[in-house]
Amino acid sequence: MLGLLLLQVLSSCLWLGHGEVVTSFASCPQFFYGGTFPNDVLKPQNPAYICQRYSNSYHYATLYDRARRIPVYSAYKYKPGSAPRPHTWWFVEPQLINKNSLKDMERESVLIDQHKFTLDQIKASQAVLDDYNKRTDLDRGHLSPNGHQESRESKTATFTLTNIVPQNSSLNKGQWNIYEAKTMPKMSKGCTTTYVITGAVPGNSYISDNRVNVPSHIWSAACCLVGTQPKKAWGVIAENDKNQVENLSLGDLEARLSRLYRGRTVTLFNNACPRK
Ligand SMILES: *[C@@H]1O[C@H](CO)[C@@H](O)[C@H](O)[C@H]1NC(C)=O
Ligand SMILES: *[C@@H]1O[C@H](CO)[C@@H](O)[C@H](O)[C@H]1NC(C)=O
Repeated sequence: MLGLLLLQVLSSCLWLGHGEVVTSFASCPQFFYGGTFPNDVLKPQNPAYICQRYSNSYHYATLYDRARRIPVYSAYKYKPGSAPRPHTWWFVEPQLINKNSLKDMERESVLIDQHKFTLDQIKASQAVLDDYNKRTDLDRGHLSPNGHQESRESKTATFTLTNIVPQNSSLNKGQWNIYEAKTMPKMSKGCTTTYVITGAVPGNSYISDNRVNVPSHIWSAACCLVGTQPKKAWGVIAENDKNQVENLSLGDLEARLSRLYRGRTVTLFNNACPRK
């Protein structure tokens, strides 16, 4: 009994001192169907698992590539809501900087003015706003978009640079926007819960003095549950230099990603989601 108590105290001590960027999505498995994560083929050499926290609650999950300073994917439940579009200031992730007690995403200016970090300290671990300000042909493309979130807080939480990739501006405003705003509502009609994973395949070029990778492709996959049963799934992929989105089955999207990730087999969802 005492041993058990000691073990509990010890494990909670180990747990304290860690923020929200840890070695797994243990704090936010609810954004993945059946608590199943994409397999490790997508995992970069220097990953950060971010349970995206704002206003004291979790809104989605992001696997972040610290070296390329872009997300690999963001995972969320599709719940489009009519809350007003939030103020559009942008956040960065304090937990990427060092071990500290800041749990929520925060604005660069707040980290600098109130918490005494320097801009260089922030820039060392992640992309900052200035990285995106120099190119007008590349937008700040959301992986988890604010239009797929319900509340004002969860919409606001999508405006963090760990959820953003440099995305072809015509694609972002064109076919990708049509997919997010028109195709998703159509495809998810009748679904009780739709789990989404949206990702970016690293490309060969960078912006902002080699700081931030420009992905070669942007993709999204969805698994639709009716009641608690997975009923259908689908995927899309877009090359990041064209205004074109291709419809795919989940299985075909996984096969395409497997080729793009050098032939190692990518799985995105729990096996129960229909691949055909
Ligand atoms: C973006 O896509 C358009 C096609 O719609 C293409 O003409 C343009 O060169 C692309 N720009 C970049 C930076 O990839
Ligand atoms: C993809 O599927 C959606 C939904 O059925 C459809 O509206 C759209 O036109 C399709 N796009 C292409 C390029 O086939």
